[in-house]
Amino acid sequence: MDQEFWDDQYRERGQRWSGRVNGGLRVEVAGMQPGRALDIGCGEGADAIWLANNGWQVTAIDISTVALERARAAAGTESRIDWQYADPRVSPPPRASFDLVSAQYFPIQREPEHATLRGLLDAVANGGILLVVSHLITGPPPADWQGPDPGEFYQPPEIAAHLDDHWSIEVNESRPRVDLPVDNPHHEDLVLRARRLA
Ligand SMILES: C[S@@+](CC[C@H](N)C(=O)[O-])C[C@H]1O[C@@H](n2cnc3c(N)ncnc32)[C@H](O)[C@@H]1O
Repeated sequence: MDQEFWDDQYRERGQRWSGRVNGGLRVEVAGMQPGRALDIGCGEGADAIWLANNGWQVTAIDISTVALERARAAAGTESRIDWQYADPRVSPPPRASFDLVSAQYFPIQREPEHATLRGLLDAVANGGILLVVSHLITGPPPADWQGPDPGEFYQPPEIAAHLDDHWSIEVNESRPRVDLPVDNPHHEDLVLRARRLA
């Protein structure tokens, strides 16, 4: 799934996602002291905008220029978001730099040496939070499915298994999706929230 794939996904519709913050992020971040956040695969920007509105300084990255254009337009004059065209497979984010690293429905591709995954984990500052939310996939994809095999990507419980004793796992569960967008078939989330110990 490269830039062309994602740009096409976005161009298919004038607006691809709901335009609202993901419920999993909203619930998990509520009550946290705002700091520096990294939104990986920010798409059309709703999560980054919500974080900025709640006092976070946000770096929001995506591989799709179409999505980033929409995100910038949606954010208007919001100055607390740094929108970046970036692919963490190619350039890992800066180490120990974020109080929150959020991956909402972001496909983290499996790799033999786990380099991309390790880059994302390393970006979390001491005391900071890693939050990964994915769709719970059960059974084979529909017959007309043309996307990638979901097995190509890490799921949150597997990421949890990569965390050593420098981490505290606070949430690692499946649960009904909060604020399920209309007509969305993915009713169940896998949620991992882990804290890097200071
Ligand atoms: C399923 S969408 C989720 C978008 C957003 N997080 C949301 O929940 O609305 C996945 C996003 O990740 C981006 N993406 C996929 N692979 C990427 C990569 N290797 N580097 C950066 N962004 C990527 C896509 O362009 C897309 O915007």
